[in-house]
Amino acid sequence: MLEISFRPLTPITGAEVEGVDLAADLQPAVVARLREALLRHKVLVFRNQPMDDARQVALTDAFGGATAAHPITNGLPDAPAVLRTALSEDRPGLVESEAGLGNPLRGTAPRRLRTEWHVDSTFVANPNAITILRGVEIPPTGGDTLFANLEALYTGLSSSLRGYLDTLQAIHSRHDPSPSPRFDGKASGPFVALHPLVRVHPETGVRSLLVSAVFLQAIRGLKPRESTALLDFLLDELAGRDEIHARVRWEQDTLVMWDNRSVAHAGPVDGLMFQEERIVHRTTVVGDLPCGPNGFVSRALMGDLFEALA
Ligand SMILES: [Fe+2]
Repeated sequence: MLEISFRPLTPITGAEVEGVDLAADLQPAVVARLREALLRHKVLVFRNQPMDDARQVALTDAFGGATAAHPITNGLPDAPAVLRTALSEDRPGLVESEAGLGNPLRGTAPRRLRTEWHVDSTFVANPNAITILRGVEIPPTGGDTLFANLEALYTGLSSSLRGYLDTLQAIHSRHDPSPSPRFDGKASGPFVALHPLVRVHPETGVRSLLVSAVFLQAIRGLKPRESTALLDFLLDELAGRDEIHARVRWEQDTLVMWDNRSVAHAGPVDGLMFQEERIVHRTTVVGDLPCGPNGFVSRALMGDLFEALA
């Protein structure tokens, strides 16, 4: 049996894993050990793991079955489970416009800080259980990924507020104006899903807040100002409570695996502060329908489930 060790990144979130070669050691006992560690640490960081896309997909399958690359965006032509993200293509979208006098009557909506904090694909009813990201081209510095422990986010609130949040559901959606057709012929949106605001982890039974600054639109049954105020508070907690955060610095051939049912993430947060390219390849493990403390089960209001590749 391999000697696998885990060096925590923080007391509650993340660990660097040593003693495993993911391109070679995928025996069931190793996968079981890593899965157990993933439930505990929520983010696992593996260094020096050179592999190709096929091996990344095999790794993803070993953890429960790879989905298509993304519910909206196509994967690579020869690897439909792999989503390639190149920062050079995303940088133009990172530039935020400034208020000016060119059109002073047009309102400038206030934006929250850290608007990129999210849980992957919550606009579908069954967001992926696990996300796997592999560093393919990594700059010398910059491009880190931040993680937030959603269980600690929940337990840090008062029991009175937790009791109220336990009863709520939230609407998550995404509608891209003109997405490219999907290779597999499935519809690429619009997507709307109704999720419990607090989810019970299907493997550990631990509660966490299912919040996202990106896809979560409103709390069901609240008046718009109530919903906005509550979400602003929860997202301020998510982004502002440093003690629930962990930060992963990438290297070439670093592979990061996270439990998308218990952490939110953000990044790269500093893409405009360096010039170099940053390319990562993402795969995702199929997820189940989140369930709330009161038994409410997520459901799709629009769009398909995010299912395993056939
Ligand atoms: Fe993400």
